[in-house]
Amino acid sequence: MPEPAKISVLLKEGRRFKPLPEFSRRAHVNSRAALERLRRQAARDPEGFWAAQARSLEWIKPWRKTLDWRPPRARWFLGGRLNVSANCLDRHLAGPLRQKAALIWEGEPGEVRTFTYQQLHGEVCRFANVLKSLGVRRGDRVAIYMPMIPEAAVAMLACARIGAPHSVVFAGFSAEALRDRINDAAAKLVVTADGGWRRGNVVRLKDAVDAAVAQAPTIEHVVVVKRAGCEVAWQPGRDVWWQEAMAVASAACPASPLDSEHPLFILYTSGSTGKPKGVLHTQAGYLLQARLTMEWVFDLKPEDLFWCTADVGWVTGHSYVVYGPLAAGATILMYEGAPLHPGPDRFWSMIERHKVTIFYTAPTAIRAFMRLGPEPARRHDLSCLRLLGTVGEPINPEAWLWYHKVIGNGRCPIVDTWWQTETGAIMIAPVPGATPTKPGSATLPLPGIEADVVDRDGRPVPAGTGGFLVVKRPWPSMLRGIYGDPSRYAAQYFSQVSSPGSCARGERRTPYYFTGDGARRDEDGYFWMLGRIDDVLNVAGHRLSTMEIESALVSHPSVAEAAVVGRPDEVLGQAVTAFVTPRVGVQACENLKDDLRQHVARAIGAIAKPADIRFTEALPKTRSGKIMRRLLRELAAGGSVRGDVTTLEDLSVLARLQSDEE
Ligand code: WTA
Repeated sequence: MPEPAKISVLLKEGRRFKPLPEFSRRAHVNSRAALERLRRQAARDPEGFWAAQARSLEWIKPWRKTLDWRPPRARWFLGGRLNVSANCLDRHLAGPLRQKAALIWEGEPGEVRTFTYQQLHGEVCRFANVLKSLGVRRGDRVAIYMPMIPEAAVAMLACARIGAPHSVVFAGFSAEALRDRINDAAAKLVVTADGGWRRGNVVRLKDAVDAAVAQAPTIEHVVVVKRAGCEVAWQPGRDVWWQEAMAVASAACPASPLDSEHPLFILYTSGSTGKPKGVLHTQAGYLLQARLTMEWVFDLKPEDLFWCTADVGWVTGHSYVVYGPLAAGATILMYEGAPLHPGPDRFWSMIERHKVTIFYTAPTAIRAFMRLGPEPARRHDLSCLRLLGTVGEPINPEAWLWYHKVIGNGRCPIVDTWWQTETGAIMIAPVPGATPTKPGSATLPLPGIEADVVDRDGRPVPAGTGGFLVVKRPWPSMLRGIYGDPSRYAAQYFSQVSSPGSCARGERRTPYYFTGDGARRDEDGYFWMLGRIDDVLNVAGHRLSTMEIESALVSHPSVAEAAVVGRPDEVLGQAVTAFVTPRVGVQACENLKDDLRQHVARAIGAIAKPADIRFTEALPKTRSGKIMRRLLRELAAGGSVRGDVTTLEDLSVLARLQSDEE
């Protein structure tokens, strides 16, 4: 692992945006002072703070002990019992939310379905009974491989209702990826659909499930939602139609009283080695922070329509499509299909038609929209929006400013939210009525989160210097382990950075949680993410953050998106290779390459000037929008791609890049 204490920090961003008074006036946390008060309370007595917050959940049995921390193992709210689905549904049925829309869904072909809290509750209870009738018991794992349709949320909540941990596998993954994840979790049942709509085509999911299940001996049943109407192969006895089973299931299903630490879900995320890790989350702590951040970060109000564009196949779709918003009593919008289908203004048309007030998406999507220019957004009245969010990657200041100006019309605060599958909920982000923002910075940790930037020995690095991003104390929604692999959990997160404290004085060293990310803090303590530590470059002895060079490239008017990797170089150690997607209508030519080199030199320095620039129409990405630099590194080094590509969104991108090579 490189020594990031020396990551050169070259990018400077001086623009600042104060919360607008009319926003702050109505906000849950309405001033800097109010936010600081929360932070101080949490710092003074972290366990007391979290215990007080946890009272906002609905408990079946109160907990005895707030935290049991035996590093690296944390357990929260010990002895307590609750049910996550009851917190998301049943608790709202007694009051005015009963007939409120919980979920408004739009399919890619354009149909709309709406479920009130009462209706969603009925669906969830019925499906919980279906699961039970198919032999699923508390503790059994259920795989979910579904398009973005309401039944995906219903399946998740039904699993939560009976205490069967779910493992949602993104429906864009291949049959092999699904098989490996089913087998790792030894899942008993898969929920899927015949197919789903994407970019005007039917993606045939049942076929992939059939191929996966042929090599997954633990699967007893496959439940299939009829969605696309395509022909499917059928194995009688094993396969069950969702609609048929639901038609005869009872809508009465008591919520199982589950221990705070009972597993809620496993979610596979790719590690740097390529072998997916099953990140494990449990009930109470996870739900607490998912719900609380809806208030702190999204400033949720009863009249909001909240749209998080993430797929349920990744953690953002767990915490901010399903669990957080429903626990907070929100109305969520859910969309099945591709962002640019049938036209470049699909999202903006949906925002206008449904009157979305809070919109949460990924920097990669924002850059894709930027590439198309402002016109598709200008066709629509977006004045219903009041808050914008981003997640998944560092957002380049240029993309931030575009989002602010073109989508938010300069009125909507932007919350750049840093977190991970492992953290369960947002950790570092503005609180929009209280925190002044700076484009490109996720600003400051939320109350109760003790994040810092340190060197390898756990000592804080000075302001302006890059280092390892760590969290110094356990937090309620942290992962509880890697499914079936406790030693990887300890090695991955708790041993790469140590914590200070003297063994000689007999102090017990509590290990810090290492995020895998590099970051720096500025003179105001704001956090600036530098990307994954594994992506850091070393050019002639200077450690450079790929993110900064990418930001410099994207600030050029001809560039829509860029990914930077190192390729081995005898002289320099590593040479900077940039893969660049030009904006629509821009001619990719040698002159532009020279221009971009000069531009990077001006923006951050000659040392960062790309040695190679390669134009490409698209970059290889995971479906959650992260650029797969590992693949680009292999390409840049002149070879073909050998590592695991099962998480790649669009294999043809790689094929095209490889054929350019030849
Ligand atoms: C990156 C997604 C900068 C980071 C919720 C992290 C970010 C990884 C941001 C987790 C952000 C996410 N600014 N980087 N606002 N949000 N990241 O597990 O590298 O899919 O470690 O969770 O994404 O990705 P994951």
